[in-house]
Amino acid sequence: MLRNALIAGSFDPITNGHLNIISRAAGMYDSITVGVLVNDKKHSLFSIDERMDIVRHVTGDLPNVKVDSFSGLLADYVNEHRFDAVVRGLRATTDFEYEIQMAQMNARLYRHGTETVFLMADPSFSFISSSLIKEVASYGGDIRGLVPEYVRERLQDKIELRGTGK
Ligand code: COA
Repeated sequence: MLRNALIAGSFDPITNGHLNIISRAAGMYDSITVGVLVNDKKHSLFSIDERMDIVRHVTGDLPNVKVDSFSGLLADYVNEHRFDAVVRGLRATTDFEYEIQMAQMNARLYRHGTETVFLMADPSFSFISSSLIKEVASYGGDIRGLVPEYVRERLQDKIELRGTGK
């Protein structure tokens, strides 16, 4: 049976924590779609095109991973594409409270029996979030090993561009 899973998020930018979840899920499912959220409520550092380009670049070695974008309700996107599973990474117990609420609400909205599947974050990445990465990078802190090199370079470009007021 063909099984296709969705990994959704803002990915502003994608971190090694996300990448770890994506590559593990790619070993479990036939096909993984990374769904990049177009979120008007969250001010993004990277545009949707930039975020998708970055995700495509850093997942390029995973042949069963493709990248798409969506807006609006996650459940609508899931129903439209009939994903078998939505995979989420759990970093700490604090994630659990939010995740269980979201999973239970989504379960009511899914129309084709989609399951939410949780993978425990690798402990070496469990403290990472995209905001923390952006904050540390903006003050010149070392983020090597926490994001792919391509992401570090794109962040560097953004920060330099902001410094010049462009
Ligand atoms: N490794 C590292 N960081 C991780 C991570 C992991 N495994 N998992 C989550 N994170 C971090 C992200 O970096 C991000 O950090 P930030 O807040 O500092 O930027 C944070 O956790 C939140 O992740 P994000 O990618 O913004 O996703 P989210 O948890 O907000 O959920 C959706 C994204 C798409 C699942 C959710 O927003 C959604 O469903 N949106 C559509 C609207 C909708 O349907 N709402 C009703 C839901 S019931």
